[in-house]
Amino acid sequence: MSGAEAGDGARIPLEVRPSGIQGLGVFACGPIAPGTRIIEYTGEVISEEEGDRRYDDRGMARHQTFLFALSDGRCIDGALGDNEARFINHSCDPNCETVEIDGTIWIEAIRPIAAGEELTYDYAYERTEGDEARASFYRCRCRAPGCRGTILAPGRA
Ligand SMILES: C[S@@+](CC[C@H](N)C(=O)[O-])C[C@H]1O[C@@H](n2cnc3c(N)ncnc32)[C@H](O)[C@@H]1O
Ligand SMILES: [Zn+2]
Repeated sequence: MSGAEAGDGARIPLEVRPSGIQGLGVFACGPIAPGTRIIEYTGEVISEEEGDRRYDDRGMARHQTFLFALSDGRCIDGALGDNEARFINHSCDPNCETVEIDGTIWIEAIRPIAAGEELTYDYAYERTEGDEARASFYRCRCRAPGCRGTILAPGRA
């Protein structure tokens, strides 16, 4: 267990452990109220070109990225350092959302989260040409009743 630094300075106890969704996930160690700023997505801020160079979807056998896109086109690479937020998985029915504040990204609760519940947000990855043809590459395994079947943003089938 560890404590993430919440936006208001409080410590939100979180645990990184294997997830039923994929690989490792992040779990709440206690109840979290809606609106709580839980943890910052930290890492190295890099250009879009450098992000594409480090994580080339076309060259991967399985989709795996620790990039978080900022609104100005740059992205945060959370791969290195002490960033537990990089292990938060996607869900089509998430309990968190991400907010950008002055070039920083925070994960906030959007509904009550119970102790032991996995934290999730909607990745809504940007669709680029040809993604539809690679449906299995981006397949979502969130198991939510309304799962849209992909970690890509909602769009054409
Ligand atoms: C930021 S990492 C999340 C942590 C990841 N579970 C791990 O152990 O490294 C993002 C990667 O997790 C996987 N992932 C997250 N949510 C997923 C989901 N709902 N369905 C399938 N794969 C998912 C994808 O491989 C994605 O590229
Ligand atoms: Zn899903």
